[in-house]
Amino acid sequence: MASPLVDTKTLRCDPSAIHFSLNGTPTFSDEHSLKTLEIAAQQISQLAQPVVIPTETVYGLAADASNSAAVSRIFSTKGRPADNPLIVHVSSLTMLNSLLPEDYTIPPAYKILMDKFWPGALTLLFPRNAARVPSIVTAGQSTVAIRMPSHPVARALIHLADKPLAAPSANSSGKPSPTRAEHVERDLAGKVGVIIDGGSCDIGLESTVVDGLHPDGDIRVLRPGGVTVEEMERALEKGREYLLRVPRVLVHKRDYTDEHIEQVPTTPGMKYRHYSPSVPVVLLLTQSNPPPGQSQIPARQYFATLAEEHAAANTPKIGLLIPDDSPLSDVPRSPRVDWHIFSIGLHTDPATIARRLFDGLLTLERKGVGLIIIEEIDQAREGLAVMNRIRKAASEVVWVSSSDC
Ligand code: TXA
Ligand code: MG
Repeated sequence: MASPLVDTKTLRCDPSAIHFSLNGTPTFSDEHSLKTLEIAAQQISQLAQPVVIPTETVYGLAADASNSAAVSRIFSTKGRPADNPLIVHVSSLTMLNSLLPEDYTIPPAYKILMDKFWPGALTLLFPRNAARVPSIVTAGQSTVAIRMPSHPVARALIHLADKPLAAPSANSSGKPSPTRAEHVERDLAGKVGVIIDGGSCDIGLESTVVDGLHPDGDIRVLRPGGVTVEEMERALEKGREYLLRVPRVLVHKRDYTDEHIEQVPTTPGMKYRHYSPSVPVVLLLTQSNPPPGQSQIPARQYFATLAEEHAAANTPKIGLLIPDDSPLSDVPRSPRVDWHIFSIGLHTDPATIARRLFDGLLTLERKGVGLIIIEEIDQAREGLAVMNRIRKAASEVVWVSSSDC
């Protein structure tokens, strides 16, 4: 039976009106923003309801991580499979320690990463203390994923509610993650009581999920994200005097495979479909060579055929997410199709592409395009996370040569 609709309120909270003292206590220079967070804190700690919050990565659907009933509402609101674990968000190291096993010592490599990237877009796996973290949060796993967000609204809310918050991205399961409050409104209106609007997310895609608990001490990246592999490698190298050995940073599927995590859905996209808008997404590979048996199509020919097909099928709106400096932007495009171009930034600036990717997918979907075309970018820095999301969003991959552009 479908759940009854709730009255959804979007409440504004200005991140620049929040200031933190040295011990992490927030103060507010705007009454309205304080009021919003008081309402949200009450929803979380007294009513055990999930609330939509802005973070520096993407919007999250947050509930009291210590309350199984509250956490179960996250799963039902998103339609999320129960075997996909959640990230717990903390606002202080004291709160982090309260979730860990009592005799646990944080490894030196984690200390270096936390020192450099917390608060921020880095999620670390820790052993779970079953007395403090309900099994619904971790989908029964023996580890719990934890991060300390840097967004002032998220940090202040965790402090006010005085609870660690379990929060996945605030989208229906399988959809692109929201980076603006209006993305959430379109998806979850009627399913969640409060959406806090704190403006656009700075990073635009999710945190990097890292497992550094293996006996070999290496850092395994389960999901590339806002903190790049290169940044982690630099931080670990700089902290070498505190380490017996500088760990390697290994990216899942690029540098290693792990049959266990491929069978359980410990990172997005391994078991479930992810990041897909309701319209098909085609990835144009312009840098990688096609595998044996596949050929490269000249870009002009690809766009001409596409236009003919869509005009004939009466679906003449196509969305393009192509870097502004791409040779593909010069390909002549048939006027029989209405091309909607979403500016995504320059190839040389993957951080901007990361910030705009999900907004681009969701904005083009709202415009009613029948297809979204995305071009491959280089997998360096934020490009690794961008390509990870694009590959999971795409239902089709085409090798295209831009040498004729
Ligand atoms: O930036 C982010 O990480 C956002 C914001 C809201 O913080 N959250 C987010 O949550 O992206 P979610 O649920 O959409 O993705 C978290 C992923 C899950 O898909 C899960 O596979 C992985 O983190 N994860 C959580 N707990 C884990 C665990 N114990 N072991 C391995 N992976 C885990
Ligand atoms: Mg998600």
